[in-house]
Amino acid sequence: MAKVILITGASAGIGQACADRLHAHGWSVIGASRRGSSSAAWTPMEMDVDSDESVLKGVTTIVEEHSRLDAVVACAGWGLAGPVELTPISEAKHQLETNFWGAVRVVQAALPVMRRQGGGRVVLISSIGGIVGIPFQAFYSASKFAMEGYGEALAYEVAPYGIEVTLVEPGNVRTDFTSSRRDVDCSGADETYSAAVTKAVGLMEKDEANGVDPSDVAAVVDKVLRAGKPRRRVSVGKLDERVGILGKRLLPYRLFEKGAKSSLGV
Ligand SMILES: NC(=O)c1ccc[n+]([C@@H]2O[C@H](COP(=O)([O-])OP(=O)(O)OC[C@H]3O[C@@H](n4cnc5c(N)ncnc54)[C@H](OP(=O)(O)O)[C@@H]3O)[C@@H](O)[C@H]2O)c1
Repeated sequence: MAKVILITGASAGIGQACADRLHAHGWSVIGASRRGSSSAAWTPMEMDVDSDESVLKGVTTIVEEHSRLDAVVACAGWGLAGPVELTPISEAKHQLETNFWGAVRVVQAALPVMRRQGGGRVVLISSIGGIVGIPFQAFYSASKFAMEGYGEALAYEVAPYGIEVTLVEPGNVRTDFTSSRRDVDCSGADETYSAAVTKAVGLMEKDEANGVDPSDVAAVVDKVLRAGKPRRRVSVGKLDERVGILGKRLLPYRLFEKGAKSSLGV
């Protein structure tokens, strides 16, 4: 019997690449997003991860129809750009509502099923921005730093039930993420801020356009799901990005910060 996987954010980009690849490799894939998707291959599902009700309804439907849920990939997300000082709290909260709380909702709905089955896999799509604070995308970074701490703690809690948790940390990836990024209203902002936002976010957009293909991230997710003992954290991206992650972990912070500035466009 095919293993059953729920992937959120499956209507585009990384989630869609994961859904396509895992379907091709024999998984029974339910791909969730707000717009649903017209995939002829895997099963699309309308789900808004910002809503408790929508997530619970989706997971309940999966369990009713398939009687099990072997893995979840929490991938739904979007980006918010602008200076911290000018970001309305409501927009900052919305960023965490999807990127962090959305993943929390999906995992919380899936865990009882996985525990009853005696095992399961949780893959959280984090980001290099969950390891390195990204200037003018502070709330995006905050949402992914939150995910990193959550995933790390969760792994200890669910290990006795045979549930494995992995944080996948992509660098820049060529997807709709760039065009979907929302900008904080900077009209009337101090000129230093405006110029700095334009420079830093412009550089990131360029890096994303030259980033890896979403299928590269899907290949890593596939490998994680096949592994008997998956890694807790896996980074995926260009060499300089992976070196950057390593640098953040190994170097004295001030030294890392000095080196990181130019690649962050500040
Ligand atoms: N692209 C990058 O450079 C990059 C780098 C590191 C990490 N990531 C992470 O990778 C994940 C996927 O991003 P992507 O690059 O694939 O972006 P994308 O192409 O824009 O896809 C985002 C997906 O998330 C879904 N989504 C957004 N809000 C949602 C909500 N409230 N409920 C359900 N689904 C929602 C979208 O579908 P609907 O609009 O139909 O709901 C879409 O399927 C994100 O968590 C992102 O932070 C991306």
